[in-house]
Amino acid sequence: MFEKISKNMKDRMLYLESIDARDRVDGTPRLERLRQIPPETGKFLALLASNCPEGEFVEIGTSAGYSAMWISLACMERNIKLKTFEILEEKIRIARETFEKAGITEYVELIEGDAIDHLDKIKNISFAFLDAEKEIYEKCYELIIPRMVKGGILVADNAVNQYGTLKAMIDKALNDKRVDALIVPIGKGELVCRKI
Ligand SMILES: C[S@@+](CC[C@H](N)C(=O)[O-])C[C@H]1O[C@@H](n2cnc3c(N)ncnc32)[C@H](O)[C@@H]1O
Repeated sequence: MFEKISKNMKDRMLYLESIDARDRVDGTPRLERLRQIPPETGKFLALLASNCPEGEFVEIGTSAGYSAMWISLACMERNIKLKTFEILEEKIRIARETFEKAGITEYVELIEGDAIDHLDKIKNISFAFLDAEKEIYEKCYELIIPRMVKGGILVADNAVNQYGTLKAMIDKALNDKRVDALIVPIGKGELVCRKI
């Protein structure tokens, strides 16, 4: 699957990685930063997504489209579109540019607005990546899990580096009878839940 990373996609990944690294040290305000996942988490997401049952792929929190590029590799294998949600205008603009430049508009649908307003309309979710403001994680989790197919995978980012903020949601998932769940210490720590 990783052999499907085209030169254009690789160039865009490297470009966004350099912007993200620069923003983290030069005092760029939090909401303007890309705050994207590291490459190893991207590979992990692509591997998980490529092994999910048939169904919809969703991402909450597109930013510049970096994680969406990784997930799109799994979408190419089954000819489906990732539905990715972004609320901020400037991020939407950069993400559209990313999907054009990487040549993956066929595999990604960018939905503008608050993901909370849209999730209840999506059925048969088989892969979900949750990477938005931490206050909405629990709400998103409760919208996604009932709409997920058996064997579907939900991944939530920042389960280790923001464990304090996410504790209530993480504890809920780890004790939820609807899923098998664990925390994987890769990148910033991923909560991985598989629908039973
Ligand atoms: C941590 S960044 C996402 C990084 C991205 N997943 C990546 O790794 O490339 C979080 C993004 O979620 C967006 N966001 C926050 N709340 C949202 C909501 N309710 N609906 C849609 N997007 C939201 C923010 O504007 C921000 O761009």
